[in-house]
Amino acid sequence: MIRDVVLASTWVSAVLAQQVYAPADGPVLRPTKCSLNGSYATATPVYSFSQFSFTQTETVRTATSVTPGPATTYAAPYESLSHLVPNLATTTWGNWEPNATAAATDGADPYGQAAWSAIWERANLANFTDRGIYSTTVSPTPVPTSELVLPPPSYFQPQDSYYFPKGFEFGVAGSASQIEGAIADEGRTPTLMEVLTIGRGDGDPKDYITNENYYLYKQDIERLAAMGVKYYSFSIPWTRILPFALEGTPVNKQGLDHYDDLINFAIAKGMEPHVTLIHFDTPLQFYADPYNRGPVMIGYGNGGYSNETFQDAFVHYGKVVMTHFADRVPVFFTFNEPLLYCDNGKAVDTVVKSHARLYHFYHDEIKGSGRVAIKLNDNFGVPQDPAKAEDVAAANHFNEFQLATFANPIFLGKDYPEAFKMTIPDYVPLTEADLAYVNGTADFLGIDPYTATVVTPPAHGIAACAANTSDPLFPYCVNQMTNTTTGWNIGYRSESYVYMTPTYLRTYLGYLWNTFRKPVVITEFGFPVAREADATNLSDQLFDQPRSDYYVQFLSETLKAIWEDGVHVAGAFAWSFADNWEFGDYDQHFGIQTVNRTTMERRYKKSFFDVVDFVAARTQE
Ligand SMILES: *[C@@H]1O[C@H](CO)[C@@H](O)[C@H](O)[C@H]1NC(C)=O
Ligand SMILES: *[C@@H]1O[C@H](CO)[C@@H](O)[C@H](O)[C@H]1NC(C)=O
Ligand SMILES: *[C@@H]1O[C@H](CO)[C@@H](O)[C@H](O)[C@H]1NC(C)=O
Ligand SMILES: *[C@@H]1O[C@H](CO)[C@@H](O)[C@H](O)[C@H]1NC(C)=O
Ligand SMILES: *[C@@H]1O[C@H](CO)[C@@H](O)[C@H](O)[C@H]1NC(C)=O
Ligand SMILES: *[C@@H]1O[C@H](CO)[C@@H](O)[C@H](O)[C@H]1NC(C)=O
Ligand SMILES: *[C@@H]1O[C@H](CO)[C@@H](O)[C@H](O)[C@H]1NC(C)=O
Ligand SMILES: *[C@@H]1O[C@H](CO)[C@@H](O)[C@H](O)[C@H]1NC(C)=O
Ligand SMILES: *[C@@H]1O[C@H](CO)[C@@H](O)[C@H](O)[C@H]1NC(C)=O
Repeated sequence: MIRDVVLASTWVSAVLAQQVYAPADGPVLRPTKCSLNGSYATATPVYSFSQFSFTQTETVRTATSVTPGPATTYAAPYESLSHLVPNLATTTWGNWEPNATAAATDGADPYGQAAWSAIWERANLANFTDRGIYSTTVSPTPVPTSELVLPPPSYFQPQDSYYFPKGFEFGVAGSASQIEGAIADEGRTPTLMEVLTIGRGDGDPKDYITNENYYLYKQDIERLAAMGVKYYSFSIPWTRILPFALEGTPVNKQGLDHYDDLINFAIAKGMEPHVTLIHFDTPLQFYADPYNRGPVMIGYGNGGYSNETFQDAFVHYGKVVMTHFADRVPVFFTFNEPLLYCDNGKAVDTVVKSHARLYHFYHDEIKGSGRVAIKLNDNFGVPQDPAKAEDVAAANHFNEFQLATFANPIFLGKDYPEAFKMTIPDYVPLTEADLAYVNGTADFLGIDPYTATVVTPPAHGIAACAANTSDPLFPYCVNQMTNTTTGWNIGYRSESYVYMTPTYLRTYLGYLWNTFRKPVVITEFGFPVAREADATNLSDQLFDQPRSDYYVQFLSETLKAIWEDGVHVAGAFAWSFADNWEFGDYDQHFGIQTVNRTTMERRYKKSFFDVVDFVAARTQE
């Protein structure tokens, strides 16, 4: 049997929980009050008769909605900031109709209707026929009380007595390309996401509709507010604001109006909107050939960041969004999980520098009182055997490559880590002046710590792998496993890469706080319950006990990190507020609500009630 012990971890100065596999005999230890000769037990039960009756009772409660408070202002309104983005012209383009018989006649206008349609023609999407159910914004209807009744409580409940510190932000997150649909409506132009998974002519016919949130956003927000969710993290597609992507091109009036209305509606419902500027949805213009995007050394694909025109264009786009919405939006994220779409060293350079430029713009020029941050990804690498120095070194290499590559310059003003420099020799060196400019350009560290992964070094060594782009383990150059030294999985397995690893979350939060020394916000966490999509019975989909366990366990460990380890965790955002498009299909259900793919109807799952109840019971007013 296995017992957890606590020891000083090798990578941080503080003493943190870290699993060590120590052999021990006998059954699991129980509290001393349970010992056979203790005061709570008798050696022999006393049997007796009584009158039987059904006396079980269950309390029936309903969720508590958000109470709107006074509006807060975080910056001057656009009218006072417009000089920071001079000469913005706005226009409208409407919807793209592939089969329209009348061709646009404004071919001489570089940003006219014909030029705009040409962007869509160049994208040449396969099977783009189904436009979905909705074509205008749907007015929200109040959620019926019958939908807000809590499910039967989970049998095992946390026994802690902790509260979340005042101001702790519990919210939900989503991203435009995974939920909005309406990809060719109201002036939007195509992005990497539309060409991502099907390429040209292979794969299943693609559903470009996702959750039709572009027209159902009010109902979605209404449903979140009804469940008491105060913080809403969403992304704005660059191509909805600037269909031609670059500085000097017109701004899409319909796009601005849409997000203006979304932000106002969320605030009216008592919620705080947090905006991500790019969530993988790079404008297609940054690819000379959208279907042949070149070799990739680092992440899943080429996000266009290495294109020499990307940086200035992205900073300009960020300035347009910030000047328009900074009065009401307290948090801006520049990039979501940038590592995943960094193809090479130049891409990393673009991310770090454009992030820093927007941070300085927000604080120095807009003089906003809100926060600017970046969302990083890394499924925490843990040494398979923490007592083995080489396993520990491999775990450090794995985590540093993914985190310190961005976080060293941004949080510490330090150069890229060796893990990155030894692997990506074409990296762009950071000068002293760069480091001074980039240092300290995030107000907190956003992390998406879905799960942990067990790490050992490759048999042929990390260095040999890092020097060989053909190595199957390149670029991380470690073995990643799901089992511990005992052969057991590290935790309960989901539909995908996510294993339920709450105790490692606590270790991870300590690692982040003690290494990068800024408050940590869990910007995404969630669990795609295995085979949930196969459940044809809605009642079964709604009773998502493993997801409930995941959220309650992760938040319990977050509270321990805060109160027992002194780690500043400032918020946690559940991914996602509804099942959505997972980059190819709808099979991985990450949602705390279901979405009927025929009717678009949403329903709350058990986990949604359990997580908001856990948080509400531990919130100090
Ligand atoms: C009973 O109590 C004694 C003394 O407190 C202790 O040494 C012993 O291990 C206990 N036995 C069991 C079965 O718990
Ligand atoms: C457009 O025309 C093509 C070819 O005639 C047809 O297959 C497709 O269904 C049409 N699309 C729409 C949206 O009407
Ligand atoms: C388009 O749809 C047809 C019919 O469903 C299918 O055979 C084809 O593979 C699809 N094309 C792509 C690129 O998905
Ligand atoms: C880089 O982006 C520009 C648009 O700003 C585009 O014209 C060009 O083709 C892209 N270059 C590459 C190599 O993809
Ligand atoms: C980065 O900024 C912090 C805070 O201003 C400062 O303490 C630190 O020395 C800087 N780092 C470097 C490498 O200059
Ligand atoms: C690089 O890795 C590939 C694939 O494992 C291998 O065939 C090749 O020999 C390696 N090259 C060197 C120089 O080690
Ligand atoms: C853990 O999994 C790996 C890969 O599946 C396997 O090679 C290894 O034997 C397993 N370890 C134990 C201790 O079972
Ligand atoms: C789905 O489950 C409900 C009870 O939760 C039951 O009434 C219904 O018959 C089930 N439907 C199917 C198709 O199994
Ligand atoms: C989705 O809605 C349709 C139409 O109401 C219904 O027939 C179907 O059973 C629903 N699907 C699920 C999984 O509930």
